[in-house]
Amino acid sequence: MSASCEAPVVLLAVTGGVGAFKGVLLLRMLQRAGYDVRVLATANALRFVGEPTWHALSHHPVVQNVWDPGNAPAGEVHVELSRAASAMIIYPATARVVGSLAAGITDDIVTLTAACMTGPVIVCPAMHTAMAEWDLHASAKRALAEGGVHVVEPVRGELASGEVGFGRLPEPEVALQAVQRALSPQDLAGRTVLVSAGPTREHIDPVRFLSNPSTGRMGYAVAAVAARRGGRVILVSGPTTLPTPQGVERVDVVSAAQMAQVVLDRAQDAHVVVMTAAVADFRPRTRAPDKLKKDASGGLSAIPLEPTADILAALGAAKGDRVLIGFAMETADLVANARAKLERKNLDLIVGNDLNEAGAGFGTPTNVVTLVSADGVQELPLLTKEEVAMRILDRAVTFLG
Ligand code: CTP
Repeated sequence: MSASCEAPVVLLAVTGGVGAFKGVLLLRMLQRAGYDVRVLATANALRFVGEPTWHALSHHPVVQNVWDPGNAPAGEVHVELSRAASAMIIYPATARVVGSLAAGITDDIVTLTAACMTGPVIVCPAMHTAMAEWDLHASAKRALAEGGVHVVEPVRGELASGEVGFGRLPEPEVALQAVQRALSPQDLAGRTVLVSAGPTREHIDPVRFLSNPSTGRMGYAVAAVAARRGGRVILVSGPTTLPTPQGVERVDVVSAAQMAQVVLDRAQDAHVVVMTAAVADFRPRTRAPDKLKKDASGGLSAIPLEPTADILAALGAAKGDRVLIGFAMETADLVANARAKLERKNLDLIVGNDLNEAGAGFGTPTNVVTLVSADGVQELPLLTKEEVAMRILDRAVTFLG
């Protein structure tokens, strides 16, 4: 999703640290996540990455002080910016900015605006280990956290000095997730959400397999949104090329049998299970230990198959108070087929999608789904897979009560 006039505004405040260059990547990621980003920069931040870069990429003037009337048509720039913004992230945050905020000192555009924010403020301190471990800095961070500021701790890693130590700025993906998390309801806090995603591969021999075109995008979106909403998320993934969403524990599997084993085991302590995986229904009865040669015994004219275990049906048979959500990918009679699967597998909700629908199905960034439960049928419009994930998890939260 690209930012538009109605997109929620996020303030990206950059202060004077070497990590400022990572802010450029964060700016792009925030825009891709659908936010309109306004950049605030201190004079020292602009020594590291110049004003033209921030201006060109954000498509807004860079706010550098309170005195430029162009930034504040109605008068007070820090007040106007904080009112317009859903959230503010300070990335990187220097020891000075952390200390100033903790002491209630508002002596520049960043601290002034942070003090006016009613929405969440996320602070990402980064500095050399000697400063990062300084007692006074540590107590300033504690004061910020006690005051409701979201502090994203630096990590251990390579520092500007060339040493390896604590104080490195977390990667932009981590900062993006911190913003998204701060803007999400924490209605899955204390809950474990198990998500399966992607295809399975059923091997014929070491180099050939039966599979399907699932890319895992829908399941990865469910996992990302569940983590953002405070859940402990376990993602059991068939082979995909997608990066693991932030804050998610990923377990890789290949075959339907491996997926069954991991899912049935990890479901023991899950409150919600969302099976988005396109699990193979059949596998070759035997797997040749060596590559089958094309000219051996006249070639391969048939592959005898046997059914795989239905993971979701097994979970439904011992459901308890776990919330179970399945998918039904259909090419005809969507609602009737989905309802039959809902009942047969003893589910709380089934998400039906019709492969013939434009914008639905394998590998697309969007989906068109119908939610079928005992309460009825809800048809959703064309949505991004993240938006679909949000709707599914809204229903999960309702079932959890
Ligand atoms: N599923 C599963 N184990 C399988 C096959 C499917 O857990 N061996 C899950 C899928 O992850 C999905 C749901 O069951 O959430 C429905 O999958 P789908 O392939 O649409 O339906 P099937 O039950 O396999 O029925 P059919 O192929 O006849 O449509």
